[in-house]
Amino acid sequence: MNKTDLEALLDTRREGHGLPRAFYQNEALYAFELERIWHGGWLFAGFTFEVKNPGDYLTFSVGGTSVLVMRDDAGDVRAFHNVCRHRGTLLCRADAGHVRAIVCPYHSWTYSRQGELVNCHGMHEGLDKSKLGLRPLATEVVAGLIYVCLSADPPAFAPLRDEFAPAARPQGFEHAKIARMVEYDVEANWKLVWENNRECFHCQRCHPQYVKANFDIYDEGTASEAVKQKMAAAVARTQSKWAAQGIDITHTHGGLATFPDPDNGLWFAADRTVLAEGFDTESMDGQRVAPLMGSYQDADVGVLRMRSLPNFWVHASCDHAVAARLLPVNSRVTRVRGYWLVNETAREDEDYTLDRLLPFWHLTNEQDWDICKWQQKGVDSVGYEPGPLSRVKEYNVDAFLRWYLKELRAGGPGVASRPLTRVA
Ligand code: FES
Ligand SMILES: [Fe+2]
Repeated sequence: MNKTDLEALLDTRREGHGLPRAFYQNEALYAFELERIWHGGWLFAGFTFEVKNPGDYLTFSVGGTSVLVMRDDAGDVRAFHNVCRHRGTLLCRADAGHVRAIVCPYHSWTYSRQGELVNCHGMHEGLDKSKLGLRPLATEVVAGLIYVCLSADPPAFAPLRDEFAPAARPQGFEHAKIARMVEYDVEANWKLVWENNRECFHCQRCHPQYVKANFDIYDEGTASEAVKQKMAAAVARTQSKWAAQGIDITHTHGGLATFPDPDNGLWFAADRTVLAEGFDTESMDGQRVAPLMGSYQDADVGVLRMRSLPNFWVHASCDHAVAARLLPVNSRVTRVRGYWLVNETAREDEDYTLDRLLPFWHLTNEQDWDICKWQQKGVDSVGYEPGPLSRVKEYNVDAFLRWYLKELRAGGPGVASRPLTRVA
């Protein structure tokens, strides 16, 4: 596919409709998405508490490119290409671990935890070690979240920091721990996973548990007066209690908060909204399932929701948070890591039990992945034609697709126009 073909393909989306079939199965387009969106933007890598001590590391792969995230000896979080500078072997092979130094499993070249090449295992030959350290990647930390960018020219991170840092402060992600992590291989293109995430039109039918706790299904146009009053009362109660402490309900009406906003370059957002009556948290029965997190003093804090494109979202209640990290495996498989976080001092089976903590989001996740799988099967059919999106219920799907097309036309998130390059 050359530049002209690619531009022609991007132009085939009919305004207000889904994407044509080629967008979910064309391998050249997928390679281009990797280059522009996944290698060009900021990726959520994990949480700072996953690499608590010097030498702790985690790895992740995006489209065949492996990234190593490590706490260095100075206590800073760094990221590198997880590739040996000798003959390219992958260095750290586990998802997470701890090392005193990084020793290549092939010929034992050895790197410090700062990424410097310190030993070539007898291969002297006048090598300038200072030029053969691990290749560093742009890394940022905000509110306990680690972000990495594979581009040498990363988009500005400060706007995300300005949005996330104050919003996340009371949740205390820095002092959380993982109660459970589940890796899901979703049999769908990564865009279908986001499209599904960006609307709650499907929730009434597909998420019987989720809809009991949330107001997402009540869009402004069709919500009854009774529902609007219930939501307004919950908003007023929480705001009067906590606004002075920075726990402010910023999304005060039904339906999903608007995200993304391609017209204003917003690929990240944080907001807080209220839960339905009787729900202290996003659990099956609405009852708390773990001790309070962060600086919360009681349950009446609604739900903090944060997200960043292309690969992160979190729903954080008073007592636990459930996050998702997306990584494309190929054009038809998306690996989603689900994280269940609780306060770092909470003890399993004493302060929380997994059978109460997990089901609400594990069910909701699996319901979504199943929908995505069947949608992929449908859009793979020659019988598929993109249908119309609801302006009332699917405005965020439209916004996501416009963001996506804009990124492919212009460059990575937040990056001003770069020329289209040839895709093999
Ligand atoms: S490839 Fe790593 S030491 Fe040779
Ligand atoms: Fe869903």
